[in-house]
Amino acid sequence: MPGIVNWDELWKATHFRGFHHHDPDLISYWDRKAELFNRRVMRHRERAEIQVASLGLRSYETVLDVGAGTGRLAIPMSKVASSVTALDQSGGMLACLKENMRADGIENIRCIQKSWQDLAVDEIEQHDVVISSNSLGVYELREALAKMDSLAKSRAYIFIFTDHKRDDGFSDFLRRDVAVKNAPGPADYLVIYNLLAEMGIYADIEMVDWLYKERYSSLDEAASEWMQMHDIAADKEPDLREFLSLRLVGDESGVCMVRHYKSATISWRKGKLVRD
Ligand SMILES: C[S@@+](CC[C@H](N)C(=O)[O-])C[C@H]1O[C@@H](n2cnc3c(N)ncnc32)[C@H](O)[C@@H]1O
Repeated sequence: MPGIVNWDELWKATHFRGFHHHDPDLISYWDRKAELFNRRVMRHRERAEIQVASLGLRSYETVLDVGAGTGRLAIPMSKVASSVTALDQSGGMLACLKENMRADGIENIRCIQKSWQDLAVDEIEQHDVVISSNSLGVYELREALAKMDSLAKSRAYIFIFTDHKRDDGFSDFLRRDVAVKNAPGPADYLVIYNLLAEMGIYADIEMVDWLYKERYSSLDEAASEWMQMHDIAADKEPDLREFLSLRLVGDESGVCMVRHYKSATISWRKGKLVRD
């Protein structure tokens, strides 16, 4: 029963024109970005290893990765868990995941190309652990969270950026180019956490600060990657180059930039009882 704030409706209102700077058509957006996204995230495998370690997976556990993308987490999870089901609605992202599996000789990941909202609960078995990492592109949030809960035997985890301002000036720079599409609302992680509570799921929440270096061979390479990844218009290239050159510093292999963002890990256990 909603209280003064209806979190479910608030989510719909803040996303009614899509998710952040992505196209409203999320499938074609991620199909287009798949290869570049994969190249970028695979350069930072240590971050994924840290996230996977925080799940405390056991070798006999099965994992369902909702919006698995190119397998940034599914690949390292498959090395510690018994098996992983990687669900994603983008065929382009799953094609990269399969390529990553081949490269690492991994055989215990099953890929399902489907949107989370189109998956019926009885279409898939329960998994010990269900995770979603920056992948809840859904309008019916209550239903999406309830599905995560009912398909998790032991625990569920949501990794999510804490706001759209992911680091020092970049989001502001992007906003100059991208019209603000939705009404400003609370950060997504707050809506998810509160809606879970309204559903009777009292989750834990942990904030994590990430600091890492992004490396490029040259300013040209950095500019071309950023133009492509963030759909920056050609006439904004000089502004982008100026923005990047103020942040990039020379290092042994070319240029690099220190980046920072905060993320939240929202997690809950099923049937957790503490007895005295
Ligand atoms: C930012 S990427 C994150 C990928 C991966 N979870 C990671 O942490 O690297 C978002 C992914 O979630 C998928 N996604 C978003 N909403 C989805 C939905 N409703 N159903 C299935 N996949 C979804 C997208 O297709 C994309 O591959």
